[in-house]
Amino acid sequence: MQSPSLPRLLLLSFTLISVFNLVLGDEGFCSAPSILDQTDSSSKPLYWKVTSPTLSPSHLQDLPGFTRSVYRRDHALITPESHVFSPLPDWTNTLGAYLITPAIGSHFVMYLAKMQENSRSGLPPNDVERLIFVTQGAVTLTNSSGISNKLVVDSYAYLPPNFDHSLKCDGSATLVVFERRYAFLDNHITEHIVGSTDKQPLLETPGEVFELRKLLPASMPYDFNIHIMDFQPGEFLNVKEVHYNQHGLLLLEGQGIYRLGDSWYPVQAGDVIWMAPFVPQWYAALGKTRSRYLLYKDVNRNPL
Ligand SMILES: *[C@@H]1O[C@H](CO)[C@@H](O)[C@H](O)[C@H]1NC(C)=O
Repeated sequence: MQSPSLPRLLLLSFTLISVFNLVLGDEGFCSAPSILDQTDSSSKPLYWKVTSPTLSPSHLQDLPGFTRSVYRRDHALITPESHVFSPLPDWTNTLGAYLITPAIGSHFVMYLAKMQENSRSGLPPNDVERLIFVTQGAVTLTNSSGISNKLVVDSYAYLPPNFDHSLKCDGSATLVVFERRYAFLDNHITEHIVGSTDKQPLLETPGEVFELRKLLPASMPYDFNIHIMDFQPGEFLNVKEVHYNQHGLLLLEGQGIYRLGDSWYPVQAGDVIWMAPFVPQWYAALGKTRSRYLLYKDVNRNPL
């Protein structure tokens, strides 16, 4: 007997699959989680994925020992299932997860601080500047004259070195915190800044398609900046960057592929990346929603 040709087999398979889909609809036993399923994200608070991330793809959730986290000489990807929280020294009722520290090769620290009921921040060490960005809840920032600012999701504060301040939280809040030893320059001082991302102007990005905002002034006193970068699905970095600056990145929204050195990583909201100086780096946004990330970058100082 002659066996059916390949085209006929394919046609038969497609017909069978179509019939199954008709019968089973969306409830079919073969149904996979759809990337079109936005789980009504429009009704969710801004940056909700950072504090409620998908810990791993659903078909890998039960796989013991599975993580997307990676630690290499010149980069690291630290995904939410690897975040380890413990009480933050000098803070009260606050859990912290240090994600980037000098032990990895950086000159800054980046950590998540989860403030709980009646929590209060501690001060950074002498000569250390601090930037906080709120991803969930709200905190009250008070300076030494007793003047307070309420910081809600998407707002931030820059605290110059040796600037007396405290953060308080009555409910719960999640902050991203960057700290580094300030690189003093003669005749320059930084100012205390409070702001929010949506109030920052869009900046020119010659040759690039992404939208760029900076949270700090680009002027000489500031030895780092925080960039907020937005990509629509399908947009990607034009420059395959290799540079002397170092980065700490938190993906606030969306998903895509990050290239670091010779590795290509699927990433999603909640993921943190460390980029050492000179690691080749590139990003493409995928999926159905905007990618937004927050990026530390050292600037304005002679590398020598
Ligand atoms: C506290 O903030 C207020 C309002 O911005 C300002 O006038 C005051 O000088 C600040 N105090 C200190 C010690 O920085």
